Amino acid sequence: MKKSHGAKTLAFPLPAYLIGTYDPSGRPNIMTAAWAGIVCSEPPCLGVAIRAGRLTHESILKYQAFTVNYPKASLATAVDYAGLVSGRDQDKFAKANLTAIEGSLVKAPYVAECPVVAECRLYKTLELGTHTLFVGEILDIKADEGLESSEGGLDIVKIDPIVFASGGHYYKVGADLGKAFSIGLSLRK
Ligand SMILES: Cc1cc2nc3c(=O)[nH]c(=O)nc-3n(C[C@H](O)[C@H](O)[C@H](O)COP(=O)(O)O)c2cc1C
Repeated sequence: MKKSHGAKTLAFPLPAYLIGTYDPSGRPNIMTAAWAGIVCSEPPCLGVAIRAGRLTHESILKYQAFTVNYPKASLATAVDYAGLVSGRDQDKFAKANLTAIEGSLVKAPYVAECPVVAECRLYKTLELGTHTLFVGEILDIKADEGLESSEGGLDIVKIDPIVFASGGHYYKVGADLGKAFSIGLSLRK
């Protein structure tokens, strides 16, 4: 028997991304976002749900652009901090000792210390209620050298991303359960 927990915004696991924008006065800002993920293959798109009232919300609408920065585990304190304070009140890049680099394709800064970053131009906006879903077209993924996996693509263990448990703690990536689009083939026979 399952116990009902009601209508809640629970999902496991969640990411903990840093959304990079220039604020309306042109200063680089970051905010933490867990309600985000890939939403389309062609064009390649990433969606992030941001509450109206956040400085980042205003900034995305102004510049029609944002970056999605995938932080490594060692940045957990900075990630939590960027989700506790508004860029209206503090310079989060300076406080968290992070470096803002101007995007090469969009008017938004990315975080140099994050091993992987995505530059996105605003593609669609959907008002959902408390949150606006910003769908960004990924124009480029930039990754540090040496993160490639032996099978092609980028290696999640080398990236060492933060895994966020809805409303709870931050974790690191756990055990490898098997190769995707492959281990299931044994049941398809
Ligand atoms: C782990 C974590 C996840 C968060 N996820 C989101 C999110 O997905 N959407 C959102 O609107 N706010 C989210 N927040 C809250 C914002 O990051 C927070 O309000 C931030 O101060 C906004 O910054 P800004 O005003 O500089 O844009 C999250 C905070 C934390 C700590």
